[in-house]
Amino acid sequence: MSYSAPEIIAAKRDGRVLDDGAIAWILRAYQAGEVAEEQMSALLMAIFFRGLSDPELGAWTARMIASGERLDLSGLSRPTVDKHSTGGVGDKVSLILVPLVAACGAAVPQLSGRGLGHTGGTLDKLESIPGWRARLSNEEVLEQLESIGAVVCAAGEGLAPVDRRLYALRDVTGTVESIPLIASSIMSKKIAEGTACLVLDVKVGAGAFIKDHARARELAETMVRLGQLHGVATVAQLTRMDVPLGRCVGNALEVRESLEVLSGAGPSDVRELTLALARIMLELVGLEVDPAERLDDGSAMATWRAMIAAQGGDPDAELATAAQREIVLADVDGVVQSLDALAVGTSAWRLGAGRARKEDPVSAGAGVEVLVRVGDEVRVGQPLFELHADDEEHLRRGREALDGALVLGEAAPAPRALLLERLSGAPLA
Ligand code: URA
Repeated sequence: MSYSAPEIIAAKRDGRVLDDGAIAWILRAYQAGEVAEEQMSALLMAIFFRGLSDPELGAWTARMIASGERLDLSGLSRPTVDKHSTGGVGDKVSLILVPLVAACGAAVPQLSGRGLGHTGGTLDKLESIPGWRARLSNEEVLEQLESIGAVVCAAGEGLAPVDRRLYALRDVTGTVESIPLIASSIMSKKIAEGTACLVLDVKVGAGAFIKDHARARELAETMVRLGQLHGVATVAQLTRMDVPLGRCVGNALEVRESLEVLSGAGPSDVRELTLALARIMLELVGLEVDPAERLDDGSAMATWRAMIAAQGGDPDAELATAAQREIVLADVDGVVQSLDALAVGTSAWRLGAGRARKEDPVSAGAGVEVLVRVGDEVRVGQPLFELHADDEEHLRRGREALDGALVLGEAAPAPRALLLERLSGAPLA
């Protein structure tokens, strides 16, 4: 069968279902440079409006995986399980979860990308540890998974390489927010990474990439089905992302807070979410261990230290601090009704903790400490936020982003659960 890009684009534009051959052909031809960027842009826009059926999405994702290598972790003596989060403000859970689940006996191959926009990237956070190295060879990943069970590193160029080009194209063509395109982008990289089991933390709310519960559920269901289809046992946990997770937002600040949780202390919401995800991961791989015990008895911390040292980092080194600090004070009395996660994330980003383009540097020390929680009673003059930045200009921009971020009222608001619904799927392949 011969295919042509204009015919495939027109078929999708008119709402017809593409066969496996057409999908494989167009992605392969695009990767080979035989389909122009404008043709792929038109197809992405047609997919944005028309969607992809389950068989089409399966074929699309399979071809994205086949565009590069798929790591083979089957030779490891430990069962493999990973976690992916769709990104939240102050979400430092991976830093704690990866060594924690490894300390419980699994191997966690967390191959990550870098943060863009108002949610920070795990690699940027770890790079605030002096000497720590994000780039590992495949051999180093395998060796570290076998010996320590925990790896967080940069996903190599070889994993789903066509996703990198498609993502860049989606970014400039208004086609990022398409459920099949998001699901195939995330899952192709996670499936290519070789994990047998996967937990997805799908964030919902004002500070999340997807604000609406129904859409987040649709994304979660789509990703769970893709995992099943490709032989990866996948569970999605929807979690609320209206307020920042924990107290700290920013690279070194979040590492510091993660160390508190790894020591058995730290903010209760970070501990609650980490333990909930750890329990799902351990259930998936059939390990009957209580992760709370491993957090409290120091074994997760010992695995953290080994994981950091194996990648060249000094677990005892002083973490970076920013040159300037400023405290924002309450100007009226009241009870905290809401704390806008998006505003806090944007503030941390403007203070220097995040990047607008992927080649931008980030400041290790910059960020926001949120000094109050929803339901707290505050008085005039009480500290609300502590801002950290490397210079006055960043400090000013970060402060402006916090205008209106905290709403005070009369009575304490009703508590809201962090964990929402859970969706599971056993592998079909
Ligand atoms: N993260 C990804 O890797 N891809 C998307 O499309 C969106 C978020």
